[in-house]
Parts: sequence; C-alpha cells; structure tokens
Amino acid sequence: MSIGSGIPGLGIEVARVPEAVRRRVDAWRAAGETVALVPTMGALHEGHRTLVRAARAGADRVVVSIFVNPRQFAPNEDFATYPRTENADLEALTEEGADLAWVPAPDVVYPPGFETTVKAGSLGRPMEGAHRTGFFDGVATVVAKLFALIRPHRAYFGEKDFQQLLVVTRMALDLDLGVEVMPVPTVREADGLALSSRNVYLSPEDRAVAPVLYRTMTRMAARLADGASAPEAEIAWGRERILEAGFAEVDYLDIRDPRTLEPVTRAGVPARILVAARLGTVRLIDNLPVA
Ligand code: PAJ
Repeated sequence: MSIGSGIPGLGIEVARVPEAVRRRVDAWRAAGETVALVPTMGALHEGHRTLVRAARAGADRVVVSIFVNPRQFAPNEDFATYPRTENADLEALTEEGADLAWVPAPDVVYPPGFETTVKAGSLGRPMEGAHRTGFFDGVATVVAKLFALIRPHRAYFGEKDFQQLLVVTRMALDLDLGVEVMPVPTVREADGLALSSRNVYLSPEDRAVAPVLYRTMTRMAARLADGASAPEAEIAWGRERILEAGFAEVDYLDIRDPRTLEPVTRAGVPARILVAARLGTVRLIDNLPVA
C-alpha cells in the first residue's frame, strides 16, 4: 500500500498527508515497536543529524518531520527566505537510517478553519518570547500537533534551543501528551560556533566574528563556576565583548536558572548562560551551562 509520495531512488519513505503517517506509525505500534520523533524545519545539518542518530539509538523507529512552521515566524521575520533544501534533507535522512519523513504542506497542517492553538506558559515569556512575538505559541502548537499525530514514545530536541526545550518539555507534561522529551547537547563547529540552518547567511567576515558568542560564554561560565565574580558583572562584560567584536545588537545576554529560567543573581548556583545577538542580517542564539 502506498503511504504517500516518495522520491524514486531514495530509501526513506515520505508522507505528505496525515493518514499516511498514522497508518505507518499505527502498524509499528501494533508490532510492539517504539517510535521516536525528531521535529525539524529542514535545511538539515550535523546538529539535526546528531538528533536523528540519538533517536535511532533510543527507539525502534524514527520519524523526522520537515516543516517550516509559519506560525512561529513574526511578520518581520525570515519565513519567506528560510532555507528550504528538501531533496538534500531526504538524502541526509536516508543516510542516517530514519524510517519515515513527515513533510506536510502548510495547508495540510493548518487547513482552512484551523483555530485552536496552544499557549506557552511562563517559560516562554522571557528572552526569545520577549523578542519574537508569538514564537513559543507557534512552536507549542505545531509540536503538540506533531505529538498528537505521530504519538511518539520519545521526541528529541537540541539544547541549542534551550528555552524551546524547556517549553516543549513543560507542554508535554501539562497536556498529558505521554511523550518523553529527550535533550541532545549542542553540536558546534571546531571554532565553537553552534551549527544553525541560518549560518549559511553569514558573510565570510561575519562568520569569522560569530564564534565570539561561544568564547564569551565560555569565559563567563568559567568565572561564574569559580565564584570569581557576580552574574551582573559578567553580563555587562559579556555584552561589551560581543558588541566590540562587531555584533550589531545583543537582544539578550542572561544568566538564568536552568529549570525555571528565573534570573540568577549570585554565583555558585546552577545556571545557564543564554544569548541572542545580531550579526549582519543574521540573528544568532546560543547557550551554555555554568558547571
Ligand atoms: P530547527 O531549527 O530545524 O531545529 C530542529 C531541532 O534541531 C531542534 O530541536 C534544535 O534544537 C535542534 N538543533 C538545531 N541546531 C542544533 C545544534 N547545533 N546542535 C544540536 N541540536 C540542534 O527548532 C526548530 O527547528 C523548530 O522550532 C521546531 C521544533 C521544528 C518546531 O517548528
């Protein structure tokens, strides 16, 4: 039985309508197999591939979704120009041994009449939530729909988007979705820059500047772990360093509790450094634990 359109020559099955996904996943579940989901917006890089490998190791079957979700882009953001590389993505997923790609069109996910959404709670309010209107409601809504459609046992999310990881973990608990959210450490270039689909838009000059984010957070984390200085002083130092290096703007540079995302005001407690800053036309985000 056909489960949707496939691309000849590619090993991975591609589903583009909900019935096709459900049929395939139901069969796996009926056979007693566990199912992992890796949600993505495509333009896959080594970070995404690492998530797929973690999913492979953690379940019998792996579904990867590729969907550039219009509801998590504000009108002034890069929805139209977000990189779309479907054929290369499907090739990468074939290489990684994923079992099924869920690649819906926007009106399959949001058909006419769609009006029920998920609203993220307090974890979605600061930082990304404050700078990107509606962002986490858009993420929570699309991820809830993915969880409801695919009903995976586990879903894999990168620590690269640390606030998103917390919002999704909370949502899965709050809505009794029965999905275990699995964190995967950030994959970086040799010079420390976190891999991101948007890095392709960095000019060569900006690409050389970009690792300053990681280097700055590393220095801050070391001094905070030592108890050598206070969070407030470290934030001031870090902002200055990032701007000096050539970033146009620092949206936020914060030190926060890794579970509640409340600001941390003293050294010597568990903390996470989180940053978003603009370099040329690109907005980079990253984060690092304070050991
Ligand atoms: P996207 O940016 O494509 O990221 C998909 C997943 O890959 C996310 O869980 C993200 O944290 C992870 N990821 C990205 N870069 C990474 C890196 N360098 N190391 C480790 N993991 C990395 O995040 C989204 O898409 C969307 O918001 C989505 C969850 C799919 C909802 O639309």
